[in-house]
Amino acid sequence: MTFPTYLFLSFLFYSSLLHRPTFAIKKSYVVYFGCHSHGLEVSSFDLDKVTESHYEFLGSFLGRNKAKEALFYSYTRHINGFAATLEDEEAAQIANHPKVISLFLNQGRKLYTTRSWDFLGLENDGVIHSSSIWKEARFGEDTIIANLDTGVWPESKSFSDEDMGPIPSKWKGICQNKADASFHCNRKLIGARYFNKGYAAVVGALNSSFDSPRDTEGHGSHTLSTAGGNFVPGANVFGFGNGTAKGGSPKARVAAYKVCWPPAGGNECFDADVLAGFDMAIHDGVDVISVSLGGDPMALFNDSVAIGSFHAVRNGIVVICSAGNSGPADGTVSNIAPWQITVGASTMDRQFPSYVILGNKMRFKGESLSTEALPNKLFPIISAADAAVANASVGDALLCKPGSLDPKKAKGKILVCLRGDNARVDKGQQAALAGAVGMVLANNQLSGNEIIADPHVLPASHINYIDGGAVFAYVNHTRYPMAYITHPTTRLGTKPAPIMAAFSSKGPSTITPEILKPDITAPGVSVIAAYTEAQGPTNQDFDKRRVLFNSVSGTSMSCPHISGIVGLLKTLYPTWSPSAIKSAIMTTATTQDNIKEPLTNASNLKATPFSYGAGHVQPNRAMDPGLVYDLTPNDYLNFLCALGYNQTQIAMFSKSPYKCPNPISLANFNYPSITILALNGSTTVTRTLKNVGSPGTYSAHVQNPAGISVFVQPKSLKFGKVGEQRTFKVTMKVEGGNKGRDYVFGELTWSDGKHHVRSPIVVKPN
Ligand SMILES: *[C@@H]1O[C@H](CO)[C@@H](O)[C@H](O)[C@H]1NC(C)=O
Ligand SMILES: *[C@@H]1O[C@H](CO)[C@@H](O)[C@H](O)[C@H]1NC(C)=O
Ligand SMILES: *[C@@H]1O[C@H](CO)[C@@H](O)[C@H](O)[C@H]1NC(C)=O
Ligand SMILES: *[C@@H]1O[C@H](CO)[C@@H](O)[C@H](O)[C@H]1NC(C)=O
Ligand SMILES: *[C@@H]1O[C@H](CO)[C@@H](O)[C@H](O)[C@H]1NC(C)=O
Ligand SMILES: *[C@@H]1O[C@H](CO)[C@@H](O)[C@H](O)[C@H]1NC(C)=O
Ligand SMILES: *[C@@H]1O[C@H](CO)[C@@H](O)[C@H](O)[C@H]1NC(C)=O
Ligand SMILES: *[C@@H]1O[C@H](CO)[C@@H](O)[C@H](O)[C@H]1NC(C)=O
Repeated sequence: MTFPTYLFLSFLFYSSLLHRPTFAIKKSYVVYFGCHSHGLEVSSFDLDKVTESHYEFLGSFLGRNKAKEALFYSYTRHINGFAATLEDEEAAQIANHPKVISLFLNQGRKLYTTRSWDFLGLENDGVIHSSSIWKEARFGEDTIIANLDTGVWPESKSFSDEDMGPIPSKWKGICQNKADASFHCNRKLIGARYFNKGYAAVVGALNSSFDSPRDTEGHGSHTLSTAGGNFVPGANVFGFGNGTAKGGSPKARVAAYKVCWPPAGGNECFDADVLAGFDMAIHDGVDVISVSLGGDPMALFNDSVAIGSFHAVRNGIVVICSAGNSGPADGTVSNIAPWQITVGASTMDRQFPSYVILGNKMRFKGESLSTEALPNKLFPIISAADAAVANASVGDALLCKPGSLDPKKAKGKILVCLRGDNARVDKGQQAALAGAVGMVLANNQLSGNEIIADPHVLPASHINYIDGGAVFAYVNHTRYPMAYITHPTTRLGTKPAPIMAAFSSKGPSTITPEILKPDITAPGVSVIAAYTEAQGPTNQDFDKRRVLFNSVSGTSMSCPHISGIVGLLKTLYPTWSPSAIKSAIMTTATTQDNIKEPLTNASNLKATPFSYGAGHVQPNRAMDPGLVYDLTPNDYLNFLCALGYNQTQIAMFSKSPYKCPNPISLANFNYPSITILALNGSTTVTRTLKNVGSPGTYSAHVQNPAGISVFVQPKSLKFGKVGEQRTFKVTMKVEGGNKGRDYVFGELTWSDGKHHVRSPIVVKPN
């Protein structure tokens, strides 16, 4: 089985053929042993001893000399394991050794502003009100936010250290710029490192240009500035969306761990490097790790992001991950470990409308960030299918794929291109290359109403599926079809918003369907944040334009919104556990949009928790959740027991002797959402709430899933001082009316009149 992996960015769909790597003959692997037994005070002697033990271990299979050659990472600080190039037979032997928890291929993973913080209620037209979490949490100062990504563009104003005090004394990281003197850190961007040995093991030897944490892609600068970028007035993309750019924790310190490189086989970030990045970030003393990358869902111990996150969370660091861009099909969510915060993507209340006007006066509202405007007159419009070159298929031409369009047919016209396969901005480029004057980009059925404003290289407008059908019908059935595309404008306060993005990956989790994923949704469509100046805004070779800020879409962009909010909560509540912070974010989220209707998806249908988890984040409420569902690292070990992992192996994560509890049920895992599979008759689950607010009495309110009745016992819980815990039971019973076996959704809310601690309930009747 192969597990392709990506940066979670929906902006680009690279054809992997364009970047075919030169694969090394030997495969490289990660060998994972669990945790180290060394305590907090680790000497370099201890670290060397660990590396020596890794050589010794590998040497017992390959011989000492070969082991020295094969091993390229020894994970010595928190994660215990190593990465090495191995023959298949060697790998098979090592995998069977009792000390080995897992052995997996060093595979690639993909990388999946200005307005969003206003939309999230932290400010109002740029005015920060007194009840904003920004004021309360001092803009996230004291917190250190790291990302594992494509590095950082240090010259971006988002990383300026103006008004920043001295670097926190707990910081142990470095600015790894020995081979790139142009790269600098400061009191804002306090550290940067790069990890490329896992990448080199796949693509072959790298030259010195790879020895730098500099972001030559844009993705890492965008995500890091969204989480913790400083205030930058007058930020815009070609004048669009002009405003003050900032991250969720504008005064936090940030650090970049570059683990992603130019695509090789369609993937950018390799497991061995991802693990090295996590191990070092934990050591350096970060508080928050933002991870906008991942692969297809896979077994927890074969997943470098899940393993790295586990070690981070165990050290009190909060890890936030993208859900993936493989929606809208069910069962596509990745980064599903219960110790991660998994983030879906939705729109905000900003659009960049650009109208398509047909010769018959029909008007369709699309979106775009095209810089060029059409001269003020109608132009002939044709389906791109009718502009096919002789040697290309009509299907490829309709998609405006490279080499499929005939300049003789396209010149001077507006082309209607269908969404799918190649990047949206590439379709615009192909149209422009063929001499078209404009492009209408029409959605396919799958992408429905999801339209995205991209910085196209020609006048263009992206329209939805229904409107696309109308444009095609006009073009197909009109003798001399004509059209015009209006220049885009920036519009704020649009309704309804948010709408779930079609690309956002959806639950249920195929690995652990017992835990609802994603956990939460946040803005991830047309997000404006800092960018690299090494590439153009479309990331295509042909794009010679350069921008300081760019508009990008993906769960890569929604993830750092939550990371920024976590940064604020960390400043406000430095002693809260990662799971308490997650609970605060989840139980205060909303399932309504800005017209007080249930959240919808890109087909205008009611979305479910499989799209948005607990709902859309509400940062100001997250700072006062009242109660939280807490979990300890030991609970996560119990979770692994319940999944059926081998106890001997689980014990390798525990510093003290560990035994799986008996009996153990996943249903009682104290998660802020409740999922029951194969419900036949009735079942009862237990949850425990902890008071983090004022004393008070909370009562339970239930919204039953269709055909299921839910009873809560006791119905009311009285809390005294902070830290007090109360346990309750929830019984779910299938009623005569539920004949189906489809998932049904409800919710449980504990309320004292002021706080509303809401959990989604997901039930699959048997
Ligand atoms: C658990 O793993 C250990 C080490 O790999 C093995 O010796 C043992 O037989 C396994 N136990 C079970 C119950 O599978
Ligand atoms: C983990 O990966 C290895 C090698 O890539 C594979 O043989 C093994 O089956 C995987 N384990 C699981 C549980 O998927
Ligand atoms: C290093 O390699 C990259 C990719 O192969 C290439 O684009 C670049 O020009 C090389 N740089 C130097 C300094 O050799
Ligand atoms: C952006 O807004 C600022 C402040 O209002 C203004 O000074 C600047 O000219 C604007 N820039 C653009 C490109 O509209
Ligand atoms: C068609 O032929 C042209 C010219 O030889 C070439 O550039 C183009 O890539 C070809 N297109 C396809 C789809 O093969
Ligand atoms: C219009 O023609 C295209 C081919 O050019 C075809 O794929 C499409 O189904 C037609 N659409 C309508 C609405 O007639
Ligand atoms: C919207 O939800 C409906 C019902 O769950 C589903 O069939 C449809 O595919 C979804 N559309 C999108 C674009 O997510
Ligand atoms: C549900 O439970 C009833 C009674 O316990 C049993 O007879 C029936 O086989 C169960 N159904 C399924 C689908 O497991």
